[in-house]
Amino acid sequence: MGVMQTILFAVGPVGSVHREQRFRCLRQMAKEALRIAATADVHYAKHSRGMFHDAFAEISSSADMLLLCGDLTDYGLPEEAQELVADIRAAVRIPTIAVLGNHDFESGQPELIAKVLDDAGVNVLNGEAIEIAGVGFAGIAGFGGGFGRRMLNAWGEPLIKQFVQESISHAVRLEQALAKLQSEKRIAVLHYSPIRATLQGEDPEIYAFLGSSRLEEPINRFKVTAVFHGHAHNGILDGKTSTGIPVYNVSAPALTKTGKPYRIVEL
Ligand SMILES: [Fe+2]
Ligand SMILES: [Fe+2]
Repeated sequence: MGVMQTILFAVGPVGSVHREQRFRCLRQMAKEALRIAATADVHYAKHSRGMFHDAFAEISSSADMLLLCGDLTDYGLPEEAQELVADIRAAVRIPTIAVLGNHDFESGQPELIAKVLDDAGVNVLNGEAIEIAGVGFAGIAGFGGGFGRRMLNAWGEPLIKQFVQESISHAVRLEQALAKLQSEKRIAVLHYSPIRATLQGEDPEIYAFLGSSRLEEPINRFKVTAVFHGHAHNGILDGKTSTGIPVYNVSAPALTKTGKPYRIVEL
């Protein structure tokens, strides 16, 4: 069993995608359900090696691929990423896709974090799309901005406009990545949430910093099959977009109540 991977395109400074040969061929699985394991907010620190080793080993024996939905490190330090990739190298035997989270930007070295992951065979998506076993994945961290009628608009001070522009930029790049996918099944991989529903349990005061409805618009328009996100440590696990697309919050702290720090979804 292997993975047939098609790299559709690669843009942006984080995570150049050039690793066709790292995947086994999954051609025979293209028409079958894909077991997608997902987690987020593992927040690896300088001495975290081993933290997810057993979970990764379980995932490798029970899923076809793994999504890491951001906040992979605590302070965005390359040495923290090295701790994580030590566990990935030791225990992950399936194709892995990642997006970065806000913590991975903390030390101003997101490109280095992405490179450490890339060197371990992880596909880091930053506005890029990739196809694995006939399923398309569009990935980007996303950004805050709030939801629905209460969404922050680009009006007033230059800093507010800059904040909103960043939110719009992530939505546009998600849209561009989705537009490249030809596959019947299309998955959005995010750190920030595209909907309010999965944030229940978080303080309402921070909802606007946990995601944005701007991400939801291209997800609905491109009739995405499912969305995975992290960032909402205290949120709930399941939600739907306004058109009924399933949204999974796979933040590991939120998942602990299930008994596993990851979730497997068959799509
Ligand atoms: Fe987090
Ligand atoms: Fe986060």
